Amino acid sequence: MIIIIKKNYDELSKEAAKIIKEAILEKPNLVLGLATGSTPLGTYQELIQMHKEGILDFSRIITFNLDEYLGLSANHPQSYHYYMKKNLFGEININPENIHIPECSEGWRRTNVLRVPDGTAKDVKALCRDYEKAIQETGGIDLQILGIGSDGHIGFNEPGTSLDSRTHVAKLAESTIRDNSRFFEKKEDVPESAITMGVQTIFEAKKIILLASGENKATAVAKALEGPITSQITASILQRHSNTIVILDEKAASKLKKYG
Ligand code: GLP
Repeated sequence: MIIIIKKNYDELSKEAAKIIKEAILEKPNLVLGLATGSTPLGTYQELIQMHKEGILDFSRIITFNLDEYLGLSANHPQSYHYYMKKNLFGEININPENIHIPECSEGWRRTNVLRVPDGTAKDVKALCRDYEKAIQETGGIDLQILGIGSDGHIGFNEPGTSLDSRTHVAKLAESTIRDNSRFFEKKEDVPESAITMGVQTIFEAKKIILLASGENKATAVAKALEGPITSQITASILQRHSNTIVILDEKAASKLKKYG
């Protein structure tokens, strides 16, 4: 694992974009794994800028997103479909046929506490299998971008998720619902489950970039990078990955013993 500590979020974003740029220039049909959340926003801005300057061509890039909320339609402003369109895909020359995001919105009905299939929903298990198959058929993810949850999750692989897991339906941890409620009108609007690539799916990416910014990530980062490898902190699996670059800002790195 290579750990790079940058002064601030802006520099972190520039560093991540530089690595992605080099990968795309080297392989114009790169299979790129993408993350959502606040952390990669600056990186996506940098990539859009490079595209506008004529440095980057996305026409042959293939993408796979890590996850999507279960039961939110693609045009729901908090869905990851919407996020990707707004923050990256709508601004670059990507071929829509090359975009993959788990799709599990139709046929889910909201009850007081849960979103439940109404009988017309797609078979989610088949959907998860198809997602894995689609990744395999491209030859696998070349470069996966990751953020980290404050509980140490990657994708939506919450504490306790098997390190061998593949794309599956995940129940969000209470702390994640709380963290992500900042994007929704109220906490009750946050879906309680999602489809996510599994830990093993992510681990099989040939190269991984993990990004973390801010003090609220410092504990998770320290546990993931310096603690034991455990399903309680799914990001800790990255210690075993032979080609992972972790890019942190100083605040996110502040609880590391060796590097902080
Ligand atoms: C969500 C996503 C993760 C993301 C995490 C951190 O739970 N499923 O993929 O890494 O949030 O988000 P943020 O970057 O907004 O802190």
